[in-house]
Amino acid sequence: MNYSKYWSEEGAKKYGYDSYCQKLVKLVLKSKPKKVYDLACGTGYPFIKSLLKKGIKVYGSDVSPRLVYEARENYPKAKLKLGDYREIVEFSNAFDVSYCFRSSWYMEDLEKMIKELVRITKPGGRVIFDVLNPSATKKEAKQIVKEMIFFWRNGDLKTYSHKVEEIMLVIINMGLKCKLHRIENKVVFEIWK
Ligand SMILES: C[S@@+](CC[C@H](N)C(=O)[O-])C[C@H]1O[C@@H](n2cnc3c(N)ncnc32)[C@H](O)[C@@H]1O
Repeated sequence: MNYSKYWSEEGAKKYGYDSYCQKLVKLVLKSKPKKVYDLACGTGYPFIKSLLKKGIKVYGSDVSPRLVYEARENYPKAKLKLGDYREIVEFSNAFDVSYCFRSSWYMEDLEKMIKELVRITKPGGRVIFDVLNPSATKKEAKQIVKEMIFFWRNGDLKTYSHKVEEIMLVIINMGLKCKLHRIENKVVFEIWK
């Protein structure tokens, strides 16, 4: 199955605005941002929808033409571009919060992703993204494995599992501070620029 078609027709709706997404939105709102960047925005639901409702200016991008088109149709106030995570077409130091949710496991070069998000974020701003949690409970781990097998068999996107320790090293080597949140079956990184 084509991944964009799956996410557009089933995936985004299946998860909905679940408790995990609500916690991520809360984390974005914590620093009272005025302007945010959503990397790998998908259909825009539920993150762009929730943040626009709060009066926040939302920018973002995704590599899928179908999903960018759909997100633009649904949320015309958001400024969305088609593009890959390795090269975000935005000025440096532009956003209060830059985030990438439920997508890092489709990105091979996570160091590049982090560097791009840090670059476009204002000094004093936050970068937030989630990775799969290798120490998830048995039930949570089972769900992760089930989802990964589904995409290996049916999807056209490769998945990558990134080690928390290696990500920490990248962040420390950039001279930045970060906090780790263990939320449901994910580890969420919150980086201070
Ligand atoms: C599970 S969906 C999540 C979408 C959205 N972040 C959300 O949580 O609703 C994964 C997204 O990652 C995007 N994606 C995959 N590879 C990408 C890449 N190389 N650059 C940018 N986006 C990518 C897909 O097109 C898809 O929209």
